[in-house]
Amino acid sequence: MTTVEYPAVPTEDAAAAVDRRERELLAAAQRYSFRGRIDTSAFSGPVFASARGSVVTDLHGNDYLDFNSGQMCAALGHNHPRILAAIQEACATMLHAHSSHFNVKEIELAARLGELLPDPLTRSLFGASGADANELALLLARIYTGGREVFSPHVSYHGLSAGTRSLTFAGWRRSHDPQSGDAHAILAPYCYRCPLAKSFPSCGFACLDASFELVDAQSTGQPAAVITEPLFSAGGVIDPPQGWLARLRDLCHERGMLLVVDDEQTGLGKLGTMFGFIDEDGTEVVPDIVTLAKHLGGGVDLSSVTTTDEIEAKVVDAGLTVTRSHSNDPLPCAAGIASIDIVVEEDVPAKARALGRRLREHLTALGEKFDLIGDIRGRGMLIGIELVRDRDSKEPAYDEGNEIGRRCFEAGLIFSMRRGGSVLRFVPPASTTLSQVDQGMETFAKVLEEVCAGS
Ligand SMILES: Cc1ncc(COP(=O)(O)O)c(C=O)c1O
Repeated sequence: MTTVEYPAVPTEDAAAAVDRRERELLAAAQRYSFRGRIDTSAFSGPVFASARGSVVTDLHGNDYLDFNSGQMCAALGHNHPRILAAIQEACATMLHAHSSHFNVKEIELAARLGELLPDPLTRSLFGASGADANELALLLARIYTGGREVFSPHVSYHGLSAGTRSLTFAGWRRSHDPQSGDAHAILAPYCYRCPLAKSFPSCGFACLDASFELVDAQSTGQPAAVITEPLFSAGGVIDPPQGWLARLRDLCHERGMLLVVDDEQTGLGKLGTMFGFIDEDGTEVVPDIVTLAKHLGGGVDLSSVTTTDEIEAKVVDAGLTVTRSHSNDPLPCAAGIASIDIVVEEDVPAKARALGRRLREHLTALGEKFDLIGDIRGRGMLIGIELVRDRDSKEPAYDEGNEIGRRCFEAGLIFSMRRGGSVLRFVPPASTTLSQVDQGMETFAKVLEEVCAGS
């Protein structure tokens, strides 16, 4: 019998196979995916494939330190084992539930939140996205007060749904047809670039006085609420001076308006305190309504609106229905319970303070060396730097910031550029070790040096 000798089949090596897979995926994205994303509209790699803790990995196996916490929702670390366990338990018991009846997980989550939040914030309802929760919060404020007009500082980000985009003044408004004529901007406490050219504390919160002159002038007699972040993240990591939020609440209440705090990005430990409306010295400004989202779901879509007994009773008596098909589903609620357990038991506020301290040490040292760094600000693990071409004129260094961000990304460090690139925002997840902070800052320092040297 003769044996047939077959020619060897050429095997594609592993790296070439990954290249091909990436090309196919990007071609499919080009054909089928919608663009219009927050930071880029390009159909280019990397394509991310997996994540763990503070590291995300692309198809090629390249690791990136994620100082953006995903889309800020992985602030507890990507794929935290306790979140995964809670999701697995939900998979084995109940994923989805009839929204009109109670289920175990949603009651447990509402109780956990009610216990964690200061009185009188006790009553919660759950939504999917952050925008969803803010829409609901504004609806509650309007029904409770009988008013219509809502206001927010001019560097706010509250979401990209119709109502919330009308109150998102930090950007992303192009091609938006604001649907609400009742949404207005007030002046933000952007002290580094005070819109009134004053300085704190001698200004005596002049921005708030001027803002409320505008509120009163624009009002048709139907004011409902001010919605604000306690620290403006997407607007450029702008941290209001102490006392600003308390004064804002007083000015709202004097007019029968509610104060809604959008703590979706800043709550649950990220700023070094349990909620963004609590300062490190324990001073708290309890709002009438608070919204949470992002890492509330530990990586799955979950948001909450919490208010007082009085507000809940009045809006429900007025006939309000708030149900969504997936509101109160057991799976996201189980993830939410696990997320709160992690925040409390792993002391995420303390971790955030430690990460922030280390980041600031590095950035302060770099600020002494490079005049490009005009301002360093933020709280806990949400830290930003503002880049300027000249420290006196404060001309924003947009191109430099975008170039630094691009090069760091290529070198395996992810963070975001805001205010056109002149603000760099670092938000490492709580899973980040101090040596990972050092590693990230080493990459950053090298790139900063190169860009400053014009190389
Ligand atoms: C403070 C704040 N509010 C609301 C939102 C909107 O959340 P979502 O994108 O889940 O609708 C965001 C998202 O970045 C946010 O940072």
